[in-house]
Amino acid sequence: MTHLLAPSLLSADFAELGKAVELIEGSPAAWHHIDVMDGVFVPNISFGLPVIKSIRRLANKPFDVHLMIVEPDRYIPAFREAGADHLTVHYEACPHLHRSIQAIKASGMKAGVAINPHTRVDLLEDVLADVDIVCLMSVNPGFGGQRFIERTYDRIAQLNELRSRTGSKALIEIDGGVGAENALKLVEAGADVLVAGNSVFGAADPARAIAQLAK
Ligand code: DX5
Ligand code: ZN
Repeated sequence: MTHLLAPSLLSADFAELGKAVELIEGSPAAWHHIDVMDGVFVPNISFGLPVIKSIRRLANKPFDVHLMIVEPDRYIPAFREAGADHLTVHYEACPHLHRSIQAIKASGMKAGVAINPHTRVDLLEDVLADVDIVCLMSVNPGFGGQRFIERTYDRIAQLNELRSRTGSKALIEIDGGVGAENALKLVEAGADVLVAGNSVFGAADPARAIAQLAK
C-alpha cells in the first residue's frame, strides 16, 4: 500500500512562499500541489504563472498544478513553460475534455482531470485510459481548510472499479479536507495521492505534519 503526499501551497503564508517550497523539498512529500484559481470557475483568486515560474527554481520535486479556471486550454503551453509537471483541469470546465487531455500530454506534462463532489465518477469512463491522474475533490473547490465530504470514500471505490474495468493506470488523488484523522482510511480505500493544505501549513510544526501524513 504505497501512497504519495502532495502538500498544497495554497495554505502556506504567501509572504514566505519560498520557505514553504523548501520545506516540501526537504520532506518526505512527493509533489508540490499548486492551486490556480481565477475567481470565475471558483469564487476565489489565488496566484498564477509568474508565481509558479519564480518558485520553480527552488524545487526539484514535481509541480502538480490544479487549474480551477475556465477555458484552461488557452494556458496549457504557458503552464508547461512556467514549470508545471502535471496539469489537472476540471471536467466541469472542459467542453472538449478529450482534446484538453491530449494537448496537456503533447506539451510534455502528465494529464489530470478533477471532478467536483457532485460530478458522477462514471462520466470519466471514456477518458480514463488516457489520463495520468484523477483528482476527486473532497470539498467544493475554492478554499483551503474546508470540511472533508464523507461520500468521497464511495467515490474512491467507484473510481477503483472503473479504473480496473477500463485498464487505466490513473492515480487517484484526493483533494480537500485531508488530515491525520482520515489519511489512513483514504489510503485503505484506494487513494494513491493525498493533497493536504491546512493540515500541513496550518499546523504548529508543518514539517512534522508532513512526516506524520507521509507515514
Ligand atoms: C481547494 C484546493 C485544495 C486545497 C486543499 O480548492 O484544490 O488543493 O488547497 O486544502 P485543504 O487541505 O486545506 O482542504
Ligand atoms: Zn487542489
